[in-house]
Amino acid sequence: MKLFVDTGNIKDIETLAALGILDGVTTNPTLLAKEPGDYKENLKKICTIVKGPVSGEVVATDFDGMIRQGHDIAKIDEHMVVKVPLTRDGIRACKALSGEGIPVNVTLVFSAAQALLAAKAGATFVSPFVGRLDDVATNGMELIRDIVEIFDNYEFTTEVLVASCRHPIHIVEAARLGADICTCPPNVIDALFNHPLTSIGLERFLKDWDKAYGAKV
Ligand code: E4P
Repeated sequence: MKLFVDTGNIKDIETLAALGILDGVTTNPTLLAKEPGDYKENLKKICTIVKGPVSGEVVATDFDGMIRQGHDIAKIDEHMVVKVPLTRDGIRACKALSGEGIPVNVTLVFSAAQALLAAKAGATFVSPFVGRLDDVATNGMELIRDIVEIFDNYEFTTEVLVASCRHPIHIVEAARLGADICTCPPNVIDALFNHPLTSIGLERFLKDWDKAYGAKV
């Protein structure tokens, strides 16, 4: 399963990329608006660091505007993926941009029916938001199960990009269900590393080693 980070923060991306476990980046207008500097230059820098798929989202809501902005985003770098919302115009734009060979990530997906539309429109990625569903007392991971099953039935090539991941359990569950990718904020990726028994175990190994060999090394 691929791991994407959901942020526009260059420092955080550099830190995670250095670990060698980062496959891509997702951004959205809220995340990019938080960062200083020009958003296009920031996206370019992110592509240079991660050298994998980087999603940049259109903010136009009409078909023509989405196509225009989609072309602008795609021009930033060969790694750019154009993110469009799951609306009628968004699905139309997905079909058109995908037809030109531009990878598209269909976002703001909250039902299996919507994911099916994205796959039919040739999306490279579909982004179901699990955390925001959990927020409204609906099990987000059930949606992932449905989408994976449907895509397998028809051998759609659209990758299931589990978005709005809030904690490590989302990631583990997504992997168990066979989702292709999880995108999560840097703090959630950090949390994947942590286990108290690892810290305690390492401390004990080092202490024992130091007792026996510390003075000799
Ligand atoms: C996905 O691409 C979105 O940027 C993101 O995962 C939304 O997450 P949130 O619900 O935590 O804002």
